[in-house]
Amino acid sequence: MRGRYGVATALAIGLASMSMTIEAREQNVPVNNNAADDWAAQVEAQMTDDERFSLLHGFMPIPIGPYANPELQAKWPKDVIPGAGYVAGVPRLGIPSQRATDASLGVTNPFGIRKGDSATALPAGLAIGASFNPDLAFAGAQAVASEARAKGFNVLLGGGINLVRDPRNGRNFEYISEDPLLSGVMGAAAVRGAQSAGVVSTVKHFSLNSNETNRHTWNAEIDESAHRESDLLAFQIAIERGQPGSVMCAYNLVNGEKACGNDHLINTVLKKDWRYKGWVMSDWGAVSGSDFAVRGLDQQAGEQLDKQVWFDAPLRSNLADGSLSRGRLSDMVRRILRSMKANGLVDAGPAPAVDMAAHADVARRIAEQGIVLLKNDGGALPLAANVASVAVIGRNAHVGVLSGGGSSQGLPPRGWAASVPVGGGEGSIGAWRVERWFAGAPLAALKEALPKASIGFDPGLYPQDAAALAARSDVAIVFVSKYEAEGFDSPDLSLPGNQDAIVEATVAANPNTIVVLETGNPVAMPWRDKVKAIVAAWYPGQEGAAAIADVLTGKVNPSGRLPVSFPGTTETLPRPAIPGYGTAEHTRVTVRMNEGSDVGYRWNARHGIKTLFPFGHGLSYTRFAADGLRTDGAAASLTVRNTGHRAGATVAQLYLVSRGGKSVQRLVGFQRVELEPRAEKKVTMTIDPRLLADWSGDGWTIPAGEYRFAIGENAERLGPAIGVMMKERRWRD
Ligand code: BGC
Repeated sequence: MRGRYGVATALAIGLASMSMTIEAREQNVPVNNNAADDWAAQVEAQMTDDERFSLLHGFMPIPIGPYANPELQAKWPKDVIPGAGYVAGVPRLGIPSQRATDASLGVTNPFGIRKGDSATALPAGLAIGASFNPDLAFAGAQAVASEARAKGFNVLLGGGINLVRDPRNGRNFEYISEDPLLSGVMGAAAVRGAQSAGVVSTVKHFSLNSNETNRHTWNAEIDESAHRESDLLAFQIAIERGQPGSVMCAYNLVNGEKACGNDHLINTVLKKDWRYKGWVMSDWGAVSGSDFAVRGLDQQAGEQLDKQVWFDAPLRSNLADGSLSRGRLSDMVRRILRSMKANGLVDAGPAPAVDMAAHADVARRIAEQGIVLLKNDGGALPLAANVASVAVIGRNAHVGVLSGGGSSQGLPPRGWAASVPVGGGEGSIGAWRVERWFAGAPLAALKEALPKASIGFDPGLYPQDAAALAARSDVAIVFVSKYEAEGFDSPDLSLPGNQDAIVEATVAANPNTIVVLETGNPVAMPWRDKVKAIVAAWYPGQEGAAAIADVLTGKVNPSGRLPVSFPGTTETLPRPAIPGYGTAEHTRVTVRMNEGSDVGYRWNARHGIKTLFPFGHGLSYTRFAADGLRTDGAAASLTVRNTGHRAGATVAQLYLVSRGGKSVQRLVGFQRVELEPRAEKKVTMTIDPRLLADWSGDGWTIPAGEYRFAIGENAERLGPAIGVMMKERRWRD
């Protein structure tokens, strides 16, 4: 692509960075080359400026901020659907309004604003990541999007691509993984699934929204090469494969500039280098000036959360005084229009009927494939079919399964069985911090799955009571949970309350103890060596209880693999303490991303850190072997076989393990494979060259030398490596 941005453009960019004018940037706008672009250009040319500006900002149709005032609410356009966002359309030109809903894990209903309106609630993003199954990510997002459409929404605020850089981040449950390939591929599949239902999907939060602590003032400092090889690569893969209509920029700052007003991130990386044609919308309350428009932001969303509606009167003044060019104004509008057209919003017919039973089935399959069997000593699981007595222990195991809090919180059709206000924090975000337990209790599901067993329950209030029940049962299953929510990080990896003591007492009373984790993050588990089995169920979604019971009883053979490392301690993290944790909200913290592009397992490999459970780890009730690796560095093949006696699924994982004699570790390919007992399958993978390369200055470089690859059972259990000599290769993007 070098030719496309020749000397003239390079010169223009140079000039632009000096004077920050808009004209130079227009040369970076890709040539209109399809029907949607042509339509957008034609329609935009017919618009009045009032119409143009009307598309550039939107509000949150929820009675908060100024809209707590009923008189203002009464003035809302008729087609407003209460939810996350609304941008008026231009009926005379056939432009529909944009009606946005949060949708990462299901269509949301913030503050119950649409009375009783429920929607399929999928498991956590980490569960989707753990499935390593892009088809399932597609199916989940398609189900959510078709429900959104049926409710009248046409813009989905989903696609959480941020890499898990910190296992204490309160929003990791909305994200997919710590690996750029996995997050990129799964994120792309989710975007494609959503958009296949005739809506626009975002990817978010661009970029480095890695923690919730002081999220509006958190300044992530990172080198360009490290950023390009990690979070940006995840976004790049998701965007090129998924073609999202919109990208949502993040709250935090990146290298000193707010992400939504970050000229380098938006204008240079996203729009110029990646030739992204859709629009960039702000996160809700992430805009602090009308100059964000010249820095690349196309739309101010959730405007009542900002100090001002910057993208109306102030931006009009910028147009009048020449600091916003007409060309840039047109560009902003066209980007919105082309994505609406390209995704069917403009020509949308009636929404197809939705099949809620089929969607429940998708939610269940994600839970089943996302549950990770972390430990299973002596074949403790699956539970014996003739087990006589089972102690079910733990808070709310008789009520439901936990879900994560914040803007992604869903209300499933069977509702919340319990809501516990947690509160805390500053500002309105504390009101969002409510533990919601989805109906469908693990206790009831286990009773159904084991009709002949006597099943007792203890709520896990007192260690003595848990121990007493465990002692008189054949097996004890302890459900432990950790609530996470948008707006909050956890201080460490511990389970809150006395849950560790409950597990300790239970296992002391009955060594045949199994622990089920319902968490949105890795946890430390000081008792891990004592218990027989550990199952990571994440937040398992509306069908979670049945999926957990099916895994415990063996109806489902677990196949999830960890999409994040379980470090066991915060001491080995790149930042043992969260910078600024505990300071007043909006305290400015500059956070050096000293791990660079070595996020998660790569950091551990670089420092020789052994984790509790590594990235890619997950057990099964059968056994697998993988061998026969062949690769030329561009593609690879290997054979996986089921050497056990049950059907099951594994994830073939291929890692780069050294370059030019230097150890590195990068996942370069993966594929989930289902195998009957004794069956084998040859798996082929193409290797994205960016995973072998470094970003250096203005492009990717694969240095000449030997590249060694190994099949990994997980990131820490690698098979024999084979080497390939590769020639130097450089390219721009
Ligand atoms: C979140 C976004 C969300 C938006 C709209 C923000 O608080 O960061 O992920 O899409 O709210 O609800």
